[in-house]
Amino acid sequence: MRVLSSRPEDFEMPMEGFGSWITPLDKFFIRSHHYTPDVKLRDWKLSVVGKVSTPLVWSLDELKKLPRVELVSVLECAGNGRAHHVPPMAGLQWKYGAVGNARWAGVRLVDVLRKAGIQPGAVEVMFDGADVAVGSQPEFQRSIPLKKALDPNTILAYEMNGEPLDPSHGFPLRLVVPGWAGDSWVKWVMKIEVRDTEFDGFFMKTAYRIPNRPVRPGATIDPALMTPVTSLSIKSVLASNADGDEVRPGSLRLTGAAWSHAAQVVAVEVSTDTGRTWKAATLGSDRAPFAWRLWEFNWTPPGEAYYTVLVRARNALGETQPLQPEWNPSGYSHNAVQAVRLHVTANPQPVSATTPASNIVRPAALEQSCLTCHTLEPIEQQRLTHAQWEREVEKMQRWGAKVRPELKDVLVDFLANHYGVRPVR
Ligand code: HEC
Repeated sequence: MRVLSSRPEDFEMPMEGFGSWITPLDKFFIRSHHYTPDVKLRDWKLSVVGKVSTPLVWSLDELKKLPRVELVSVLECAGNGRAHHVPPMAGLQWKYGAVGNARWAGVRLVDVLRKAGIQPGAVEVMFDGADVAVGSQPEFQRSIPLKKALDPNTILAYEMNGEPLDPSHGFPLRLVVPGWAGDSWVKWVMKIEVRDTEFDGFFMKTAYRIPNRPVRPGATIDPALMTPVTSLSIKSVLASNADGDEVRPGSLRLTGAAWSHAAQVVAVEVSTDTGRTWKAATLGSDRAPFAWRLWEFNWTPPGEAYYTVLVRARNALGETQPLQPEWNPSGYSHNAVQAVRLHVTANPQPVSATTPASNIVRPAALEQSCLTCHTLEPIEQQRLTHAQWEREVEKMQRWGAKVRPELKDVLVDFLANHYGVRPVR
């Protein structure tokens, strides 16, 4: 796994994870805003409150008396692919692997809500987990519209790939919203609130929002033009080869996965000539309404040369992927066509290992102000301008970082010089 933050846990699936239809647990990505809570079943209860006629307080055994349902669905983080946006923005720098495909089992959310009795006037349902915010960061709480809550595919899962949920994936109960991005898939669910007003918490009204129209890359957007991230976008990944690979002449088996939202993937096409012509890839036989589809394409490069291979998926609605990413301020929903440059040569050169930047001397202010809640990992993966770093430090101050006023400039200069848009070598 690629560690983006060890605590809170943010781990990215390695590319070989795209090789199996069901993603094994040890490769499944993890995204956590807060530290993983240590939930003990004997203390845990699910409460259903708000605009309901009979509030419920249930143990897991009581919940399990409802009919069990199972489905296979992709789970993708809204920020998957953020690292590919230009200009870069603050946030965990996910590349391709903030996505996985799992078999979820649990109960329908609608069955739980019917037991509680939804009252007239209800408009949405809010979920709160057992996790506790780090510092003064707002609590991770999210809501979904009532219509989505009543969808029979929306489930409260207690199992993933045939096992009780792992603590990192939300033990004992997580919301599963097939076709929607991971920000709605609340983990460690303890409280469900049926509401007659829109929930206005930070993770609904500030975070996880995208402009309702294309915007100029790097622009500052009026919050009134932003809407919540909901549905996933159609997307495909070529996983068998990395951009820049050198390969020997002869036949190549290109493989990967493709997924969409409620409209299923119907085709994956591959271009081996920089987009002049496209040919259909073969889709894998494993399929389910919200699952990803594996694909493969056998190709014999016509000779030793430099090729740009492109992959795009199409769904039942005819939607396909854009050639360029649609930039947005927080870097969500990246689904641009992936380009993999391959050098076909009889004499591949060994890849030289990059030397880690271990000789960086860090100012004491960094240790004292920044490395108390999390490690250096989320910091060193950023590529931000001086102004962006200043805003990032101020955001951390609002979330509880203590920065001595006279050391703030030293800190921002250091961050911009070492983790800037043009890193110092
Ligand atoms: C009081 C706790 C705390 C301190 C101290 C702190 N951070 Fe953070 N930091 C957080 C939290 C919480 C997150 C976000 C976790 C999440 O939602 O994934 C975060 C995330 C980040 C990220 C990832 C991008 C983002 O905005 O989510 C960066 C970069 C970062 N912090 C930089 C810093 C720097 C630089 C400092 C020192 C000035 C600092 N942090 C000090 C709590 C803290």
